[in-house]
Amino acid sequence: MQMFGKLLVVITGLSAALVALMWRDTFEPESLRGVRVLVTGASTGIGEQMAYVYARFGAQIVITARREAVLKQVAEKCQELGAQKVLYIPADMAVPTDPERVVRFAAEELGGLDYLVLNHIGPSPFAMWDGDADHTRWLMQVNFLSYIQMTSSAMPVLKKSGGAIIAVSSIAGKLCTPFVAPYTATKFALNGFFGSVQQELAMQRANVSVTICMLGLIDTKSAMDKVKGYTTMPAYPATDAALEIIKAGATRQKEFFYPWFGHLLCLARDLFPSARDWFIQNSYTYEP
Ligand SMILES: NC(=O)c1ccc[n+]([C@@H]2O[C@H](COP(=O)([O-])OP(=O)(O)OC[C@H]3O[C@@H](n4cnc5c(N)ncnc54)[C@H](OP(=O)(O)O)[C@@H]3O)[C@@H](O)[C@H]2O)c1
Ligand SMILES: *[C@@H]1O[C@H](CO)[C@@H](O)[C@H](O)[C@H]1NC(C)=O
Repeated sequence: MQMFGKLLVVITGLSAALVALMWRDTFEPESLRGVRVLVTGASTGIGEQMAYVYARFGAQIVITARREAVLKQVAEKCQELGAQKVLYIPADMAVPTDPERVVRFAAEELGGLDYLVLNHIGPSPFAMWDGDADHTRWLMQVNFLSYIQMTSSAMPVLKKSGGAIIAVSSIAGKLCTPFVAPYTATKFALNGFFGSVQQELAMQRANVSVTICMLGLIDTKSAMDKVKGYTTMPAYPATDAALEIIKAGATRQKEFFYPWFGHLLCLARDLFPSARDWFIQNSYTYEP
């Protein structure tokens, strides 16, 4: 009995140490001063907030999205917040030549690249799949292929700088989600691709980190407009999501979950499939 008691104390102690280790904040804000960053989808939402976070840390930033007038405003605010340098380049990631053009611009203007932050998504309906294959093909180019193209053009410069790729994905890249089948497909594709690239970079001992971010529901305007009336799931603040993504990238984490309990849902995914499906389907209101 006494032995058991001791064992319990040891196990509790070890668990506490493990939790403390997992939760320790190794992020050093100074490490982001002057870093050269490219953020996509930065005209609004989480991308815009990430641009402001990097600006406050004194980074050199290139932002991109389609709408030039909005990018200009975001760039001005970045300057006010303390960015060392800010440039913007309008581009449409559905155009097959734009991803490379944007990376070339950023690497030339900044003289290299330390962070490639892939975040943009094309607009997609929040509805049961209606059989439209063309939309899925288009969305694959915007949400997935353009990420690959940018990674391809940026890899040589990232290898040179010991840089990092941050791929903003979703819990929908791990759990099949109703109403957003094409979007879910693009996020699974991203997780598969960047997961494989992580393995290869490690095997090659290349000093480029890849951080895959699994986000839950975040309170951006586009997301809130879509789910309104469909779900009572809590939405988490884009400002906080942006900061935590940037910290995860700076500390070179492989996978990052925000909010944290998304990790639990993913752990339960293959252990309790019926409970998982019940939970997912009952997170939405729907009358057939
Ligand atoms: N919000 C959520 O609940 C949530 C949940 C999980 C994961 N995420 C992920 O977080 C990331 C950001 O989401 P968000 O809610 O912040 O999105 P958002 O507010 O809808 O912003 C999307 C961004 O992408 C740009 N964009 C759209 N189409 C484009 C195109 N064809 N070419 C280039 N840029 C384009 C938009 O700017 P322009 O219109 O000016 O081009 C905008 O800057 C995405 O990867 C998303 O999957 C979000
Ligand atoms: C890898 O890159 C990081 C970040 O740029 C740097 O701190 C580290 O020293 C590099 N490691 C090696 C082995 O070059």
